Amino acid sequence: MNTALWLLSCSGAHPQSALHPAGPDSAALADLIWGLTGILTVVFVITVAIAAAAVAPRRPDAAPSELGPRFVAISGIAIPTVILFGILGWSLQTTFAVRPGQGAVALQVVGHQFWWEVRYPQAGIVDANHLVLPAGSPVVLELWSDDVIHSLWIPNLHGKVDLLPERRSGFWLRADAPGVWRGACTEYCGTQHARMLLTVEALEPAAFEAWQVGQVARAAEVPEGPGREVFVSAGCAACHAVRGVSAADRGPDLTHVASRPTLAAGVLPNTRENLIQWLRAPQEVKPGNQMPPSQLPDREFEALVDWLGSLR
Ligand code: CUA
Repeated sequence: MNTALWLLSCSGAHPQSALHPAGPDSAALADLIWGLTGILTVVFVITVAIAAAAVAPRRPDAAPSELGPRFVAISGIAIPTVILFGILGWSLQTTFAVRPGQGAVALQVVGHQFWWEVRYPQAGIVDANHLVLPAGSPVVLELWSDDVIHSLWIPNLHGKVDLLPERRSGFWLRADAPGVWRGACTEYCGTQHARMLLTVEALEPAAFEAWQVGQVARAAEVPEGPGREVFVSAGCAACHAVRGVSAADRGPDLTHVASRPTLAAGVLPNTRENLIQWLRAPQEVKPGNQMPPSQLPDREFEALVDWLGSLR
């Protein structure tokens, strides 16, 4: 089922690493990380060396130290001032370099306890926990929260930006080449804060266009089947939207649930067995989330699982 998951497992090594930048913003941030680490390592070594020399035992007949107030003024005030202002300047310059800019593609990410809603307003697609981008194009992300404060960090592509309930924030990013990475919530937002993951997938521009067209076409023709009636009668539709079936917006939109790489925002790979596990015992899989367990009899439950598995 899932190219994205497959890629995630063998793009291997660093799907969530700020030290393996895959775009210009994260590259600027990685330069800053390495630069500060280098400068501060040198400062640390020199400081420790001076401290060690100061406390080293001396011979009783050694001449008194020549180092006086001038040494303190230069090494204790002048040099640190230059270094600290230099670091401040570099940090500010990086901050301005990664601020929101103009982008060809505008997407929206909304934080929820504990999952990410992903909207493609230009195409009219709503999805969850799976962000698909065109590689090589600037993408503007508009962010807000539906409940508490969250913070989105996709380390290979960008730094952290908060999602606030009462204000829109945003950033722009560009993935240099196709790939799959992982984003996470980095602001404590409740019990399952640590398991609020976002799969980020950059496709070749033509593949991105085709993906959008495919999602729109599938949303226009949601499959029939006995599971569809179960979805409505069993109460799923009270919280979850499926285009053309229900418009509820409390839980993730399920119009494309079968095409997502994971279930429960990165907790389980999206397989039939895991879908069954999730629907039967969501509080065991991810305690504290808002999904109630399914009490459906086996036949209806199977029909529901089949139908959800067909929503691509
Ligand atoms: Cu959302 Cu932490």
